[in-house]
Amino acid sequence: MASLRVVVLFVAATVMFVAFVPPPAVAQLRTDYYASVCPNLENIVRNSVRQSMAQSQISAPAALRLFFHDCAVMGCDASIMITNSNGDDEWRNSDNQSLKREGFTTILSAKAAVDSDPQCRNKVSCADILALAARESVLQSGGPYYPVELGRYDGRASTRASVVLPRVNFNLDQLNAFFSGLGFNQTEMVALLGAHTLGAADCPFFQYRIGSDPTMDQGLASQLRGTCGSNPTNGFAFLDPSPVTFDNAFYRNLQGGRGLLGSDQVLYSDTRSRGAVDNYASNQGAFFADFVAAITKLGRVGVKTAANGEIRRDCRFPN
Ligand code: HEM
Repeated sequence: MASLRVVVLFVAATVMFVAFVPPPAVAQLRTDYYASVCPNLENIVRNSVRQSMAQSQISAPAALRLFFHDCAVMGCDASIMITNSNGDDEWRNSDNQSLKREGFTTILSAKAAVDSDPQCRNKVSCADILALAARESVLQSGGPYYPVELGRYDGRASTRASVVLPRVNFNLDQLNAFFSGLGFNQTEMVALLGAHTLGAADCPFFQYRIGSDPTMDQGLASQLRGTCGSNPTNGFAFLDPSPVTFDNAFYRNLQGGRGLLGSDQVLYSDTRSRGAVDNYASNQGAFFADFVAAITKLGRVGVKTAANGEIRRDCRFPN
């Protein structure tokens, strides 16, 4: 009788334990996640991104930006790639309308390349391909190599209303508030925004500063007046003087008052973050190390698991 009671108690305790073990709050990402199912994954994505970059200089900056716009909204789940037939998706939010087509095609080409290997077909998530393509964009533009953590599942949902992104006229407190919501402290945020060493911005994002923002260098102001005066909607300028090279020139540019976006220039004009800008401006190694840590952290935001995600067959549509 006593031993039966022990067995019953043991079974009850086991059931309770299994029933109350909480699901992992954070998916277990690993750099070797696809080692057995798709051993050549990194090479496939590397070669595909190389081809996209050879076709267009916009590919790398656009793919890197796409990764941020994906991770910052609903987590790194490739929800930014979804095109819903009812017209309600993240991509169609006005804040995402400046994402360049080349970023999307870089990811779709990489996905097609991955799926052309029979071993890999429909085994690798679009979210992971985005993370790998972002790394390749950095690396193949002269930036640091870093191992990419993998094992994200793709989200099933994408809505216009879910998109909340930082704005170009944010001050430092507003920037800190947004990025602390993603888990970043101020120095990590300054490092992450070094992504603006690549690419360009359209006039509507900086034109309002010309002549009214005293932190803007006068030479830059007159140059931009020329750029946007004749072509206010389609004119653009580069975010730093070496827009296809991933380097620390972005920070030196800020020291000279030559940052294009208000949200970038404020990192220098506000003395609370100026020290980090000065550090990265004088020490590219420090920038690279901190950028790698920051973008790796970005890649962990809101990661989905098999329980709430899927491996999308076509990155544009939930299965
Ligand atoms: C305060 C936060 C941020 C703001 C306000 C912001 C805003 C912008 C704007 C307005 C553009 C120009 C878009 C265009 O006209 O085509 C841009 C470009 C870009 N952003 Fe950001 N961004 C922020 C953070 C980030 C982060 C965290 C990353 C990546 C880690 C990133 C990566 C890029 C890249 C690579 C480009 C160039 C894209 C291209 O040339 O097509 N941005 N950003």
